[in-house]
Amino acid sequence: MKKQPIGFMDSGVGGLTLVKEARKRLPNEDMVFIGDQARLPYGEKPAATVREFAWQMANFLRHQEIKALVIACNTATAAALPDLQAQLAIPVIGVIKPGSIAALQTTHNRRVGVIATTGTIQSAAYSQQMAALNPDVQVTGLAAPQFVTMIEANQRHGQAVQTIVNQILQPLQKSEIDTLVLGCTHFPLLTTAIQTAVGPDVTLVNPAVQAITMLEEVLTQQQLATTTPGTLRMYTTGSVAAFEEIAQQWLAQPDLTAQQVDIQKEKNDGPDR
Ligand code: DGL
Repeated sequence: MKKQPIGFMDSGVGGLTLVKEARKRLPNEDMVFIGDQARLPYGEKPAATVREFAWQMANFLRHQEIKALVIACNTATAAALPDLQAQLAIPVIGVIKPGSIAALQTTHNRRVGVIATTGTIQSAAYSQQMAALNPDVQVTGLAAPQFVTMIEANQRHGQAVQTIVNQILQPLQKSEIDTLVLGCTHFPLLTTAIQTAVGPDVTLVNPAVQAITMLEEVLTQQQLATTTPGTLRMYTTGSVAAFEEIAQQWLAQPDLTAQQVDIQKEKNDGPDR
């Protein structure tokens, strides 16, 4: 059987948090990643626009003959997951259900915080998903779109960053949460500063871990897993240099390279079904 890659898509470098987890746990899989940096941030755009962009990324990846698609973006998961799942014949995995499951497994006092983009918070996707899994849970959402800008500029460490993160997360102080979901795939790149801001009594949840568990299960169930060492191809719609700098650091792969692509010209093949 021909080896087919798994596709990962995000508005930017945030999706690399899923790629990092997947490379660690599924080293035999070929992976292809697209980051739509040219049109970032998604989190401040209307859901209909995010859905349109998500389809363009999905079409680009479909032309790479992917065997499964990971929507490595919470904003795009909230806006486009049901649509993509209904219309594509390959498995499509989002991050909100995995993040919710992981949060409910982590919390002891059933008070969970979610930090995410404005779009994800306004969609109420996390609070609805967690309420469906456990009606007793109390979810406090906070939009933190500034973190996306900081991370894309590779501002992740130092006192100035810590001061901003402390200020932005200040509203969570009174919420009595014991668990905080990093509900934007960019945010695990700021883990140190976020953990310092909320203190050691709050456990951070990175939905990537549970999402890759789900991906692994799907690959096994559908007999899609492969056994020879995997490769990684990276594409961005924005600056290659800016993308490569963060990707090389975050994936600890100094020789990693990316290519620029224009996905707006991507042919739309329409639904598989
Ligand atoms: N990484 C994306 C997410 O998980 C959003 C970043 C953006 O606003 O573009 O929601």
